[in-house]
Amino acid sequence: MISAKAPGKLYIAGEYAVVETGNPAIIVALDQFVTVTIEKSERYGSIVSKQYQDSSVQWQRRGDEIVLDNRDNTFNYILSAIRLTEEYAQSMGCKMETYHLKVNSDLDSPDGKKYGLGSSAAVTVATINALCQFYKLPLTKDRLFKLAAIAHLDVQGNGSLGDIAASVYGGWIAYRSFDREWLKSARYEEKLTNLIDLKWPALEIRQLTPPNNLKLLIGWTGSPASTSRLVDKVAFKKGQQLKGYQNFLQASAQCLTDIVTGFETSNLKRIMAGISHNRQLLQKLSKLTQVDIETPLLTKMCNIAEHHHAAAKTSGAGGGDCGIMITDKTEVDDQLVSELQDNGVQLLPLAVHMVTDLD
Ligand code: PMV
Ligand code: MG
Repeated sequence: MISAKAPGKLYIAGEYAVVETGNPAIIVALDQFVTVTIEKSERYGSIVSKQYQDSSVQWQRRGDEIVLDNRDNTFNYILSAIRLTEEYAQSMGCKMETYHLKVNSDLDSPDGKKYGLGSSAAVTVATINALCQFYKLPLTKDRLFKLAAIAHLDVQGNGSLGDIAASVYGGWIAYRSFDREWLKSARYEEKLTNLIDLKWPALEIRQLTPPNNLKLLIGWTGSPASTSRLVDKVAFKKGQQLKGYQNFLQASAQCLTDIVTGFETSNLKRIMAGISHNRQLLQKLSKLTQVDIETPLLTKMCNIAEHHHAAAKTSGAGGGDCGIMITDKTEVDDQLVSELQDNGVQLLPLAVHMVTDLD
């Protein structure tokens, strides 16, 4: 039996700006996993998933038409990952097989709620990794990232793919998104096997080392949010607010440069100042686009954290899901933890996961 696992992720800084080509973000991989196992079968193949059995479909009305939105249905990412890996396997001359593929995820809460730790990215990475092993295809982290990015983009279409980078590389990473318009044309021009060995314009993935005294706390709001829809909303509004949006992109890039310098010089104070600044920039973006990024509970979490000398902000698209807090390990007080809990923010006891080899 073949098995592969991929970690979930959390955005630390640079959200929304990272959706634009070449803009930076910092992301961490967490020790919560999606595991995919594959077993050869004879007549029938199957795809079985404990967590992703939801057969309901979301739709929106556009005038007289009903438009389906499949982007939040994890099953579609599994199918896209299988389709793409089979295309890769065929182009490498493999004989196609029939198999049972099983998916199991820690990334959703026991009662089926989403934490927002990137299950669609992790499921895509784990499926491709497992299938490449099954077909005995050569795989590096770089190739796995590129295959997973293509498969994920085929379904969601509007993300930065930073969550895929975190899931493949692990640890703390500085990420710059590649030019997705270029990739679209490149897919028509190049064979898949060549495409995944090319240098992708603007793509940058770099490992960061946090200072020894850095402590990351994760606060879960208990309410799920749809990243793809929040990103759509910001994309729609940015067209009407171009100047303000350009300012946001520039300020975010500057802020991220500052935070990365904080990592490179082991300067926790500088990292924390950058996190607080990035929170303010996202608040401004929220005002500019009228998209609800920092919900009242996330505001409460940030204020409590700041009161206890931690830096805090929303994580990812916001609108619910998780917030992050960064503080000095030697100064974490129990009161911060109990105050958060009293106010309805649940601390997730997760640690950053390092990927040494392909898991
Ligand atoms: O909400 P999350 O954790 O899926 O993060 C989304 C981050 C965005 O920058 C808003 C979108 C993206 O694809 O980078
Ligand atoms: Mg989210």
